Amino acid sequence: MSAVEIVEVAPRDGFQAVRPFIATETKMALIEELAACGFTRLEIGSFVSPKALAQMADTPEILKRCRLPAGMRVMALVPNAKGLQLALESGVKEVSWVISVSESHNRSNVKRSVEESFRDFAAAWGGLGPDKPKLRLGLSTCFDCPWEGRVPEDDVVRAVERVLAVAPDVEIGICDTTGRAAPSHVGSLLGRITPRYASERATFAYHGHDTYGLGVANAIEAWRQGVRVIDGAAGGLGGCPFAPGAAGNTASEDLVFAFEHMGVETGIDFARLLAAAERVAAVAPDQAGGKLRSVPRRRALSGFGHASRGVEV
Ligand code: COA
Ligand code: ZN
Repeated sequence: MSAVEIVEVAPRDGFQAVRPFIATETKMALIEELAACGFTRLEIGSFVSPKALAQMADTPEILKRCRLPAGMRVMALVPNAKGLQLALESGVKEVSWVISVSESHNRSNVKRSVEESFRDFAAAWGGLGPDKPKLRLGLSTCFDCPWEGRVPEDDVVRAVERVLAVAPDVEIGICDTTGRAAPSHVGSLLGRITPRYASERATFAYHGHDTYGLGVANAIEAWRQGVRVIDGAAGGLGGCPFAPGAAGNTASEDLVFAFEHMGVETGIDFARLLAAAERVAAVAPDQAGGKLRSVPRRRALSGFGHASRGVEV
């Protein structure tokens, strides 16, 4: 049977957009609840400037104190060399380094040109010894930039090549930061990238937002293009505070429902996830999203896990 890994990113992308500060104990309780749903990987927190994003300031404490199932993979976001250093000091084994494809979003997000960010990444990553952490390199704004509009596919391809030149062992995140992509766009971009660059050493992940209601459709198209790692946030929470107009991540529960309904295994306990998603959404109800939480529970769960008969994907 085919499978997909849904990576739960609410504890980073979801919480980062919320104000005021969510108590550390609350974050930890939600993370532990999400961890119990069967995810194999969570993205927890960021090593970013507390002046830029105060919500993430308790990341080291959370990483230290959270009780997670053995074997659970944990990624933490870093935006620069300083973030990498702090993450390593906290014992992080997987980092998700973020660089935008579009110049304006990179400047808004990390106050550097794309060139400067790539130079910083090359120097810091190249300077690590053989026991490097695992790397996700998240390329933000692969489709659309709040300031520059549609992002040229050639720019994304060039960014992928730059990442691979520095780090051949990598998971590259193709991110629709604003949620503006359409499945046709996802198909055309990934159709250029995955056949050419995916390998045993270099794999791809898709990270989407649901601003215009296309999050699930885009994720399915990414899957059809060979991507087997898809990010979601329980309760549809999330959004980049440095990308005006971007709404929450595609809801994990919507992704799990869609994939399982297509006969693609996620390994997630859906009933448990729906309950967890309610509690995550309650942290910022006005920012929460997703569809499945509003379907009567009995209907959402009935026959769940049975592939729709006869539909080939
Ligand atoms: N974590 C914590 N502190 C950091 C840091 C990091 N990753 N990077 C820099 N700093 C500190 C520096 O040590 C310095 O501290 P000091 O004033 O005590 O000397 C201060 O921040 C300024 O450093 P500088 O390199 O000039 O940073 P900046 O002000 O240009 O900001 C970023 C750049 C990347 C740190 C900041 O824009 C940021 O954290 N962005 C986060 C973006 C984000 O999380 N977006 C959402 C996810 S995509
Ligand atoms: Zn995001």
